[in-house]
Amino acid sequence: MKQKIIITGGTGYIGSHTAVEFIQNGFEVVIVDNLRNSDISILDRIEEITGVKPEFEEIDLTDNKKSSLFFNRHKDAKAVINFAALKALTDSSKTVQLSSVNKC
Ligand SMILES: NC(=O)c1ccc[n+]([C@@H]2O[C@H](COP(=O)([O-])OP(=O)(O)OC[C@H]3O[C@@H](n4cnc5c(N)ncnc54)[C@H](O)[C@@H]3O)[C@@H](O)[C@H]2O)c1
Repeated sequence: MKQKIIITGGTGYIGSHTAVEFIQNGFEVVIVDNLRNSDISILDRIEEITGVKPEFEEIDLTDNKKSSLFFNRHKDAKAVINFAALKALTDSSKTVQLSSVNKC
């Protein structure tokens, strides 16, 4: 049975490349992302490369309730790799509001 890995921010730049590597190395990948800085079509691109379309959930990880439900649904995951964040430090330090959405 494949080991499950959760990749947060998995439709983003580093997350999607990481997803490809894990799938190609025999893991089951579950991606969670709010699509703030990425596009759902990356899942098709991952499928083109690996032959596998990873399970995906669109969740903002600053939403504690939805995040808890998500992680409870995937208690069998062996690891969580977190890439869900605003790309540049300057983006998250511009305003208090941006800082608050970059806390995951
Ligand atoms: N790209 C680089 O060269 C590089 C280098 C060093 C560090 N990093 C850091 O690695 C992380 C990922 O970088 P990246 O280049 O893949 O960025 P990216 O913007 O391509 O990917 C981040 C993903 O996280 C998602 N996201 C953001 N906030 C979220 C939230 N609250 N809930 C759910 N999803 C959320 C975005 O929609 C996006 O898909 C960032 O923290 C970045 O600062 C990147």
